[in-house]
Amino acid sequence: MPFVIVHTPAGVNLYCGFRHRRLPSGEIDGVLGPLTDFNNISDLVDGFHADAIDSGAIWHKRGQDVTPDTRVDWKLLDNLRTLDTLLQRTGLRKETSHALIGKYVYLHYLRDRGILSPKKLGRWGIEPSSVFGRTATLDGVSAVVARLDEWLNGSVFPLDFRGKYAPKQDHLRYVAGVFAGDEVSEAGDQQLSLDFLAYNFSFIPIETLSVVYEQFLHAPDEPDKPSRGRKIGAYYTPIPVVNLMLAELQDRRLLEKGMRVLDPSCGSGAFLVQCYRRLIEKEFPPGSKPKPAELRELLEGSIFGVDLEDDACNVTELSLILTLLDYVHPPDLEGPRSRFQLPALRGKNIFRADFFENPAADNPPLQKGFDWIVGNPPWKRLNPDKLENDDKPVLKWLRANEKTRPVGGNQAARAFAWELLEYLAPDGEVGFFLPAMTLFEDAASGFRQAFFQHVKVHTVVNFSNLAEVLAGRRFRVPAAAFFYRHRDDAGDGLDEDEFVRTFSPFVANQEPTRPVRAGARNESWSILINASEIRDIPTSQVADGSGLPWKLAAWGSSLDQRLLSKLGRRFLTLRDLERHRKVLISEGLQLRRAPASEEDEEVDLVEEAVGKNKLDVGPLARLRHVFAFPADAIVPVEPDLRFARKGRTQLPLSVCRPPNVIVSAARNFAVYHDDFLVVPARQIGIVSPTGDEDFLKALSLYLSSDFAFYHQFLTSTQFGVQRGLATLNALRRMPFSIESTPRNELVRWSELHSELVQTKPRTIGDTSPAERTPERQLRLAGMGDVDKKLGRLLEELNGLVSESLGLDDGERALIHDLVHVRLALNDGKTGPAAVRPPKVVELRTYAERLKSELDDFMDVQSAKRHQVAVIHDGLSGMVQVDLIRDSAAARKVQVMKADNAAARELERTRQRLRVQRSQWVYFDRNLRIYEGTRTFVFKPMQRFHWTESQAMVDARQIIAETLQGGGVEA
Ligand SMILES: C[S@@+](CC[C@H](N)C(=O)[O-])C[C@H]1O[C@@H](n2cnc3c(N)ncnc32)[C@H](O)[C@@H]1O
Repeated sequence: MPFVIVHTPAGVNLYCGFRHRRLPSGEIDGVLGPLTDFNNISDLVDGFHADAIDSGAIWHKRGQDVTPDTRVDWKLLDNLRTLDTLLQRTGLRKETSHALIGKYVYLHYLRDRGILSPKKLGRWGIEPSSVFGRTATLDGVSAVVARLDEWLNGSVFPLDFRGKYAPKQDHLRYVAGVFAGDEVSEAGDQQLSLDFLAYNFSFIPIETLSVVYEQFLHAPDEPDKPSRGRKIGAYYTPIPVVNLMLAELQDRRLLEKGMRVLDPSCGSGAFLVQCYRRLIEKEFPPGSKPKPAELRELLEGSIFGVDLEDDACNVTELSLILTLLDYVHPPDLEGPRSRFQLPALRGKNIFRADFFENPAADNPPLQKGFDWIVGNPPWKRLNPDKLENDDKPVLKWLRANEKTRPVGGNQAARAFAWELLEYLAPDGEVGFFLPAMTLFEDAASGFRQAFFQHVKVHTVVNFSNLAEVLAGRRFRVPAAAFFYRHRDDAGDGLDEDEFVRTFSPFVANQEPTRPVRAGARNESWSILINASEIRDIPTSQVADGSGLPWKLAAWGSSLDQRLLSKLGRRFLTLRDLERHRKVLISEGLQLRRAPASEEDEEVDLVEEAVGKNKLDVGPLARLRHVFAFPADAIVPVEPDLRFARKGRTQLPLSVCRPPNVIVSAARNFAVYHDDFLVVPARQIGIVSPTGDEDFLKALSLYLSSDFAFYHQFLTSTQFGVQRGLATLNALRRMPFSIESTPRNELVRWSELHSELVQTKPRTIGDTSPAERTPERQLRLAGMGDVDKKLGRLLEELNGLVSESLGLDDGERALIHDLVHVRLALNDGKTGPAAVRPPKVVELRTYAERLKSELDDFMDVQSAKRHQVAVIHDGLSGMVQVDLIRDSAAARKVQVMKADNAAARELERTRQRLRVQRSQWVYFDRNLRIYEGTRTFVFKPMQRFHWTESQAMVDARQIIAETLQGGGVEA
């Protein structure tokens, strides 16, 4: 709950549900106190008016107040983490420490919910002070636990009070004290802190337990060694992701009583808890009072999980039990005839087992098919040379299934994605959270090919652009959710019209959780899907294992697909030139020292490189449009680096010889060079066997063009997802249009090259501290005026390349918009080039392109044309498209500010639509509404929504939807 407005007789206060902070005055700000006093009621009303929500203004004004890491439960976590460390430092075993802390969460929850009331304790003859607070005693706690065991079945976090590893009285007091409000410091001091009193455990989200668990697992057992949590890949799944995934599954098949759900690696139970909640809320709508036994029946009948870790199973069980109790009316547990017991889940619903050791064999509940399988498996690339014991079963599985169920890259998560099919009912549905590289990496192409043919994947949510914000600081690996089912017609091939729906949310569209400052990281507490991010990919396009359709779906559209295949057909590729011996292409030379022992790899001496220079790509990392290497990028080869791996010398060496073109792995430069220069590993060298200088110069320009970057970014499917590197294969696949250019025309290219080598490159992004040396600043100083010239020359360069490729205006716009606008969103960035407000001239270009695309679709004979008007204020814009008789008015597009007199009429329409469909922009920032021959498109005022390529996509969607009959469209 981000905001709470409380009206009291004393006035109106606004609270931020995400803020718990102590002010210097000692008062608590946020949950316990007012954030702002509103004496003036209209301030408050304006800020929270539906309009402010629709337009996103609320997030502009208040976004920075809503930061999950100031939430009260994060404070609790801090204290619990410290507590765990301290308990273990005093000699308590890890398992006992976790059980003790878990037990106290449970006891406090029961007390705060009124289930473990003073009356109840009184009836049992137990003094509350012997259980809660610093006066707690071993006798008191063990007595209450025994009673609870009997009453509710207390198998939750079993704790042995007698054995060898039992906690001592001091441990107990310590924990009880902290739960009663004492604050602990790393040094072990304990002092009363009112902070803890803010916790009412009946309100702390049960999900918080997942975080507690993850923290426990990620505390290293020994310094400098990877923690257990890391080894087994235990990272809890962000709740917005869980909910989005379950909502998607619900759309396919509603979860209801009688259905069975399995999470094969349930961790702390995030998916299972949310499934259980949904089930309860479906069976018992608000207002109905489920009996405890009914809740128990639902849990026992429907919710199942497997995990390798005992602690994970414990936390899942505790979370499920607390969820059950969440819906219980405490007096229902108390009645004289109430014989209710909580279920013992272990071995019946929750199984401690390795999923690859056939847990179904010994556990009958796992033998029947499941209707839903959900989860987030461990993401782990197994290294057969460094195998942990726990990895052996999955590696055995990988080897046994190599042919029929390949995973690629030894990725355990993909083995789960296959193996769970053994547990899926014939009409069951799966929602599974996997590494996004599963879509993109070359290593996984075998997986994609087999998987998309074997199962029916109907939806994929690609979260890779949210990697920076999805899980705050906990992990940053790009993720994707896969939704699939058995193929009814396995073996019969794909349906021709089968498609996979995919969406790839951008951080820039996450209005409520978008970081307020560049470089800041918020943990997402909600995820918005924008209509413009949804694409349908024909399954036939991905069933050959290609990663390209996924890249295009996230970054482009079918128009890019069309352009790339058209150019691929029309021109020879660099690989063709290589085959015709027009060029020689190779990765650089990996120089190394002489082998130290016989076991080291064999090497060849590379005499030719001795005493020569090599390229150092470090100083070039943030430079763009480099046409000559700056002096500091050319350094002598270290004298002892005189060898290269045996047999890997000849070709790499030949591309170091002048004249050559050196292309960077990040594709930020392709420089023509005419001195011997060692091309370092991963960078690429290209030479012409005839030493054709003009051709190589033209090649360096071609490879420095926007088109080349566009091509490389889209076709090196991993580029920009996890590693900022393009592949050699993608370079070889680039269509090359100047090969047949007559000599005399190459002269222009060559002249342009000589002008460009005189310019200074541009520096992008923040320079790292190492780069901010005065010397470097000096070298890059004075770029201002040179830059202008560079701009003009680059325009000419891009013009030459586009011309040689025969690109029309629309195709040029596709390239321009990706390279100069959308790429500023790469890697979760919200670069100004993409998110700044569009200029009027850009709005006009958008409108003109939209109009011309729509008109092109009309029959030439038709007397009708599209009239396009854009009306905008600072935050959002409305496009109105009318199909009218061709006239002077229809031929001109209009762009108006909302307060402009001429815009009043349109503004009234906007108001009317807004009243009719309250609060839509917030839920769908790219909304289209159809009314007869009129279409309205609403968009936020961010540049990337108003590009020419977006106009082309919008036009196609408008045409498709009006042909279908229109209606309100998301
Ligand atoms: C990413 S976590 C699951 C997170 C969980 N969905 C949540 O939000 O809490 C992966 C889990 O897989 C478990 N695991 C790892 N290898 C396993 C195996 N071979 N069989 C079953 N569970 C396994 C780990 O113990 C860990 O709890």
